[in-house]
Amino acid sequence: MISQKTIDEIKLAAKIEEVVGDFIPLKRAGKDWVGLCPFHDDKDPSLHVSPRLGIYKCFVCDSAGDSVKFLMEHEKISYPDALRYLAEKYHIEIEEDKKELTPEEEAAQTEREALLAVNSFAEKFFIEQMNETENGRAIGLSYFKERGFQENTIKKFRLGYCPEGWDTFTKAALSNGYKLEYLLTTGLTKQSENGKTYDFYRGRVIFPIHNASGKTVGFGGRILAKGKSDKVAKYFNSPENPIYHKSDILYGFFFARKSIRTKDNVYLVEGYTDVISMVESGVENVVASSGTALTDGQIRLISSQTKNITVLYDGDNAGIKASLRGINLLLEAGLNVKTVLLPDGEDPDSFAKSHRDSELVEYLEQNATDFIRFKTHILLQGANDPIKKASVIDEIIATIALVKDEVTQTFYVRECAEIFQVDEELLMTKLRKVVWKKLNTAKSGQPSTPTTSEPAQKQELPSPNKQSPVQRTKPEPNTIESIEFIVVKLILQYGLYEITVEHTAADGGSTYQPMRIDQYIFNEFASEEIHFQNPLYQTFYEEYARIAEQSKSQEELIQNFVNHPDKSIQNLAIPILMDENPEYSKIWKSRYDVFTFSTDNNIEKLNAEVENVINFFKIRLIEERKKLLIKLLSDDQSVEIQQSIAKRLSELDQMRKYYADLTRTVITK
Ligand code: CTP
Ligand code: MN
Repeated sequence: MISQKTIDEIKLAAKIEEVVGDFIPLKRAGKDWVGLCPFHDDKDPSLHVSPRLGIYKCFVCDSAGDSVKFLMEHEKISYPDALRYLAEKYHIEIEEDKKELTPEEEAAQTEREALLAVNSFAEKFFIEQMNETENGRAIGLSYFKERGFQENTIKKFRLGYCPEGWDTFTKAALSNGYKLEYLLTTGLTKQSENGKTYDFYRGRVIFPIHNASGKTVGFGGRILAKGKSDKVAKYFNSPENPIYHKSDILYGFFFARKSIRTKDNVYLVEGYTDVISMVESGVENVVASSGTALTDGQIRLISSQTKNITVLYDGDNAGIKASLRGINLLLEAGLNVKTVLLPDGEDPDSFAKSHRDSELVEYLEQNATDFIRFKTHILLQGANDPIKKASVIDEIIATIALVKDEVTQTFYVRECAEIFQVDEELLMTKLRKVVWKKLNTAKSGQPSTPTTSEPAQKQELPSPNKQSPVQRTKPEPNTIESIEFIVVKLILQYGLYEITVEHTAADGGSTYQPMRIDQYIFNEFASEEIHFQNPLYQTFYEEYARIAEQSKSQEELIQNFVNHPDKSIQNLAIPILMDENPEYSKIWKSRYDVFTFSTDNNIEKLNAEVENVINFFKIRLIEERKKLLIKLLSDDQSVEIQQSIAKRLSELDQMRKYYADLTRTVITK
């Protein structure tokens, strides 16, 4: 593996204009370079290359990324190969990770390798025992055959059998030179108090567990008896050890990966046998969580292959309610979650066995329900009184708040409104509150130190640049959206800069404290429950909160947006990041006579500008609210309502005046 140090060095050395320039003729355009985009049929040069950001971006086909990404896409090579190419180009010596290991790391590495070797030996041993001994065939193989497993599936999943008797396996392993220490660590061998060793899985059929690259990291061993006795567990599983972290493993993932990608969906089931039976029925994109709640590690595995997951529930599964919580994690990870409820008494294994392949596929396709509807259905069971119903609504709204895509959120809210026969707007308001609360608590718990030092050192603002790239996402001028766009730009371009903010103490005195611009905006938004009306901007805002918290420097923050998985966020952010001449300054200068920070690079003016942008945004929001109220007033209303609207209007006028005074804006309308 190429060491992180080398990767950093390579990325630092790579000059995007040179890397791209090796394949495509580039022409200078101000600080950037432009050329014909190789990723679509380009007539006019629409590929922009920004040395400052180290990225390329096509403004027609939206492809974008850094030097490494360019090579991967253009040359169709892997990530390490792209790094190797760059290392050669820039004469950087590649350090493999191994060379850098400390003695402890070296030992750990050796241990991991030894454990993998033990498991690999065990897997082969169990397969041999099952297929090549009389007992193995009579007991182990016949068990699988009775369950209806086909020969090729048994081979594919490397199923095996551990013979009865105390220590057949342990003896074989020791005599082949494997150390007892490692046999014990993997859990294949157990030791009693008097020191006697025995096979943990003796007399059980074996389901080897593979990690994402196909290495055998653990085992599940099923008892042969049909599971009447509660005294002995049906399955024995490997204990946690340096190569087996249960929470990072999905059973079947290694075999399913390709199919998950081509189908762009994964089925999640509970157990080993569910996976195997579904694969036998031709559904190969299936993995199991092995009877436990989903973990973040497992979800990461899934999201690396697809954004779509279908969770299968047994018809009589009493644990559905408890498992709903785990599904929230999937939504939070931005996955689209569907569910299929199997008929009463069936699990995926039994259903697959008792139906034709085409019936299984048909059933899965016809019964896939979106998660919100499913959850509502489950929670509503037996909930007849209004109070209980209201609490179900709250629970569902909290779940919808986890959904990443705002369009999908709106869709779910509509669905929820229909199911409960309540006003959609009311639910939207509830949803907003939940989202805001979350955003607020997420931000207030955040220490602001790590990111401040870096940009603070170079508080020099970008100089104007004549050649700014085409803006495809620019809203109509002078609309509320255009102000929102200004705020988005402000956050993205200057979020990590510090301004000085006035704090009024209890005794009325004031102190001045430095505060990051993004933090300032977050505070302002949170305290007044402001949100963006444009859903894309709102998503951006939430993403920014997340990314800013994770990024250690402005560079990292930029890279996170440049390589953002959501294309629409990329398309919003990249032009802003490439644009060095914030246009709004011109507008502001001419129209509102306020300070601007791009005319001359003066950090002090940033203070005033930020406050003005936010205040102006608030004014615009107040105007929107006023418009709504005035419309209400013109409808036929009772005197009381008219009075209360009038009162609210005058309050809004006062607020508007307050902010307008702060902004030094001439109120024209
Ligand atoms: N499991 C376990 N230990 C148990 C029971 C279950 O580790 N004592 C895990 C296994 O990974 C199992 C999954 O939970 O595959 C689902 O349990 P269950 O549905 O009971 O088992 P099946 O896989 O359906 O096995 P079978 O069909 O052979 O009963
Ligand atoms: Mn089963």
